[in-house]
Amino acid sequence: MNILITGVTSGFGLAMAKRLIKDNHTIIGTGRRADKLSDIKAELGEQFIPLCFDIGNLDDTKSALDSLDKALLNNIDVLINNAGLALGLESADKADISDWQAMINTNITGLVSITNLVLPKMVAKNSGLVINIGSTAGNYPYFGANIYGASKAFVKQFSLNLRADLIGKNIRVTNIEPGLCGGTEFSHIRFKGDNEKASKLYEKVDYIRPEDIADMVHYIVNLPPHININRLEVMPVAQTFAGLTVVKDL
Ligand SMILES: NC(=O)c1ccc[n+]([C@@H]2O[C@H](COP(=O)([O-])OP(=O)(O)OC[C@H]3O[C@@H](n4cnc5c(N)ncnc54)[C@H](OP(=O)(O)O)[C@@H]3O)[C@@H](O)[C@H]2O)c1
Repeated sequence: MNILITGVTSGFGLAMAKRLIKDNHTIIGTGRRADKLSDIKAELGEQFIPLCFDIGNLDDTKSALDSLDKALLNNIDVLINNAGLALGLESADKADISDWQAMINTNITGLVSITNLVLPKMVAKNSGLVINIGSTAGNYPYFGANIYGASKAFVKQFSLNLRADLIGKNIRVTNIEPGLCGGTEFSHIRFKGDNEKASKLYEKVDYIRPEDIADMVHYIVNLPPHININRLEVMPVAQTFAGLTVVKDL
């Protein structure tokens, strides 16, 4: 199969690329860091096709896709919308507007742009699978999740609405909604390089690994064609739902 994964330069995307190459698929892997992409190309070889662009920029996204061989572009079997980020964990009143814009631009605008470009090609051949990487943050509010959580709630509803639009077509859509995962750059980026803060979060917690998410993707890709998993919410055993917060003497 031909599988397009956004954000393969680290974390889940990289683990997925490695897992799916092992299964003998062709991987088109994207990211903004050209050096990382060429290292991955050197490691994964011929079956890995790197595409370097910022997913938040529609023109760059279009030209990156247009640079692909036409036969390949018209035959993407699986689109994995993985690229995304969280920035900051402050309350909404203290948040930086440029952080909010970056999250909206990547997690929402970028995700819908590439979907808009690839989906018609799947419809034309009446087959395909879209896997979106949402988050439990899209399901349960927590302090400081403000725009990140809202962007992932968007991804969940967009996934469900895609399925609704695709009725009668052999195209599947799954939203994977992970809870706490370690071993990626996610918290390093969220805390803007404050690695102490980031590593505190994972201290003494048996968190989900990128390879666990890659295994779930492998499972979804290999499901019988008549099965669609709408949403797959996963948490480490050490995590449960956020409690409802009450403050005394308000
Ligand atoms: N880790 C968690 O706890 C967790 C939990 C739930 C959901 N998620 C979601 O899982 C996805 C992957 O996260 P991760 O933990 O693997 O994080 P990560 O290690 O930081 O990886 C994020 C990937 O997205 C790419 N990316 C970010 N902004 C981009 C942009 N504007 N254009 C192109 N590529 C961009 C990055 O590549 P470049 O920097 O090279 O551009 C990188 O490859 C995200 O959508 C995240 O929200 C993570």
